[in-house]
Amino acid sequence: MSTRPRTAGKLPLTELADVKRRGEKIVMVTAYDYPSGRLADSAGIDVVLVGDSAAMTVLGHDSTVPATMDDMLVLARAAARGAERPLVVADMPFGSYQVSDEDAVRNAVRFVKEADVDAVKVEGAGPTLSRVRALVGAGVPVMGHIGLTPQSATMLGGYRAQGRTARKAQELVDDGLALEAAGCFSIVLECVPSAVAARVTGALTIPTIGIGAGPDCDGQVLVFHDLLGLYEGRSPRFVKRYADLYTVARDALERYAEEVRRGAFPEEAHTYAMPEEELTLFRTSA
Ligand code: KIV
Repeated sequence: MSTRPRTAGKLPLTELADVKRRGEKIVMVTAYDYPSGRLADSAGIDVVLVGDSAAMTVLGHDSTVPATMDDMLVLARAAARGAERPLVVADMPFGSYQVSDEDAVRNAVRFVKEADVDAVKVEGAGPTLSRVRALVGAGVPVMGHIGLTPQSATMLGGYRAQGRTARKAQELVDDGLALEAAGCFSIVLECVPSAVAARVTGALTIPTIGIGAGPDCDGQVLVFHDLLGLYEGRSPRFVKRYADLYTVARDALERYAEEVRRGAFPEEAHTYAMPEEELTLFRTSA
C-alpha cells in the first residue's frame, strides 16, 4: 500500500480505478452544507458524499427513508458550493429511483444540473442494476451501495451486519460484480465482515469504499457527524470519533449564555462608536 498525497485539483472520476490499482486509499466523508463541504475540501478529502443520512444527522428523522428530492437538492447544492476540489456524489433518496428507470434518470439529471454534483449513489443490486445502466447510459456516473442498505433496513431485519453466511457473502460478491458490469464507477460496502469486503474488493476492478467493512476496501467513508462527534450518545461500532465537537459547541454556547445573562458580553471591543461631535449633536437633539 502507498500513501497518495492530496490532489491539487479534482480527482478525475475515471482515475479512481488507477488509484485502486496503485494500492492508494480513497478518502470519502459525508457533507450536507456549505461549511461541511468547505471543511472536507480544505482537509484534502477525495470524495464528498451528500448522503441521505442527512435525514437523520441534519433533519432529525430516525431513518434515511423520509429524505426527499427537495431536501437532498438543497443540501447537495450547498455542499457542492463548498466542496470545489473533491468529487461530489449525491445520494438518491428513497423513492427517487425505485419505481422506474425513467424516474431514476429524471431525478439524477436534476442533481447534476441543479446541484452541480459529479455523480449519484443508489442502493442495492437486483432491480437497481437496470437503473444503473439507464443512468450511465444517460451520462450520469453512478456509485453503488451494497451490504447494509439503510433505505431497505426493514427488509434486512434492521441495522445489522450483512453477508455473515457463506451464501449471503457470495451473493455480495455476485452483486458487486453485477454492479461493476452495469457501469458503476465505485461501490460502497456497508457493515459486512472484513473477509467478505476483502473478497469483493479483490474481485472488482472498480474501487470499493467501506464503512464498517474492514481495512481491505480501497477507501473508507465516515459520516461527518459521527467522526467529529457532533451528537450526544453512542456511535455505531464501526465509527472512530476523531473529535468531540458536540461538547466543544455546547460548552461555547453555555459560556455565551452565561456572559449575556451577567452582562459580560458584549465588551467594548465588540461594539461600534460614532464621532464625538455627532454623538453630542445626537444627545442634544432630543
Ligand atoms: O447516507 C450516507 O451517509 C451513506 C454512507 C453511510 C455511505 O450512504
